[in-house]
Amino acid sequence: MGLELSHVDVGKGSQTILFIHAFPLDRRMWRQNYPASGGGFRVIVPDLRGFGASAKLPLHDSIDRHADDLASFLDALKITKVVAVGISMGGYIALALARLHASRLSGLLLADTKGTSDGEAQRQARQASIETVERDGVSALFEKMIPNLFTDGTPPSIVDTFRQIAATQSSAGVTSALRAMRDRADSTPHLAHIKVPTRVVVGRDDKITPLADADALASSIPCAKRIIIERAGHSTCIEQPEAFAAALGDLLAETNQ
Ligand code: MLT
Repeated sequence: MGLELSHVDVGKGSQTILFIHAFPLDRRMWRQNYPASGGGFRVIVPDLRGFGASAKLPLHDSIDRHADDLASFLDALKITKVVAVGISMGGYIALALARLHASRLSGLLLADTKGTSDGEAQRQARQASIETVERDGVSALFEKMIPNLFTDGTPPSIVDTFRQIAATQSSAGVTSALRAMRDRADSTPHLAHIKVPTRVVVGRDDKITPLADADALASSIPCAKRIIIERAGHSTCIEQPEAFAAALGDLLAETNQ
């Protein structure tokens, strides 16, 4: 049994990597990252409920339930443990996985994300984003996000690729994720209990989850190492895939011991 999420499943090996995508994207955002994971690993890349080809599943507006989804999805694939790699919203879900399903993790890579929940100003901004999507569509929201997602040096062709991925998401899935992020639990009290090797990756110029958020995460998780990626903003895996692969490789060398 278990939940069927639309996904890519490639490679073979004793370790499995689970890539968890950001908002408002889908598994296609990882296209340049999972081949770079190298050989010797099984790589699973799902579309989260409400996104991509998992858009038709009933929605639940909850980051914790997304973590439950992933545990149930791993059951369906008969996978016991993974190295979870989550970026931004995917990082919130990876942290929920660590809190609710710790036994499923052998390692964690938390990229451009944070442990705290939304403050009042952020909650109001989520509401404004919901209204933008309902009134003007997902692309209108994504256009507003672009200056904070990428650095000025990101090639326009890359930004366009992600514009196209965002444009295919449903308004219902995107507003559900906005509610889920707005109402997510604070993972901070749990961070000290994370026992698996962890990398906290952050773009030097990340404006959404800046260095201070990465510092707070890395200093609270006992086995964490912080890695700053130069010439990158909030989308490190897209903007600097080689540096991102190096950070993941560093983690996999430790989780393989
Ligand atoms: C993301 O990139 O997934 C979002 O920017 C996260 C957020 O809005 O908190």
